[in-house]
Amino acid sequence: MYDHLTVVDHPLVQHKLTLMREKDASTAKFRQLLREISQLLAYEVTFELELEDVDIETPLCTMKAPKLSGKKMALISILRAGNGFLDGILELIPGAKVGFVGLYRDPDTLKPVQYYFKVPDELQERLVIVVDPMLATGNSSVAAIDLLKTAGAKNIRFLCLLAAPEGVARMKEAHPDVPIITASLDERLNDHGYIVPGLGDAGDRMFGTK
Ligand code: URA
Repeated sequence: MYDHLTVVDHPLVQHKLTLMREKDASTAKFRQLLREISQLLAYEVTFELELEDVDIETPLCTMKAPKLSGKKMALISILRAGNGFLDGILELIPGAKVGFVGLYRDPDTLKPVQYYFKVPDELQERLVIVVDPMLATGNSSVAAIDLLKTAGAKNIRFLCLLAAPEGVARMKEAHPDVPIITASLDERLNDHGYIVPGLGDAGDRMFGTK
């Protein structure tokens, strides 16, 4: 079982994360590292997937061998930065179903408002992995998970690259049943809601926007 927060301290993850944090890393380099690190994180987040023995024939004999069982996993990207996790994870788990949640912050209420929601069916029977590289205030993650639970999701994990203590606390309060898996628990949020030391705006860095 996971604790509420799991920091993946594998040396390859930590090394790649350091390269991503560096401000002079190019968009291409950032994207490549994100793809690699997302696969290493996906390996961690799926270690409890269920297996069933099936009959197969090797060139030498028949045997019972383990295969993934049950409904295919649902990978849910919180737009837009969550999309940066998709390529790498889908390379590793090509059968996964993919959904998208789009939220914006209402300028008056400052609350997250849904503008897009399209997810695989039968969420209640799937392992649901929600991806967003940066767990900052936690507001959009909490709102996205609220929507997914309303749509039936029961077995949810949240995968991110960096987490701020504020976001982890907010998630624990709102969704104590959702384990968070991350490459780093950073120090804090700054006054603009950026994670410090962080890596800047993850969406801008992966898509080359400003
Ligand atoms: N979103 C980002 O892209 N970066 C942060 O530091 C916080 C939220």
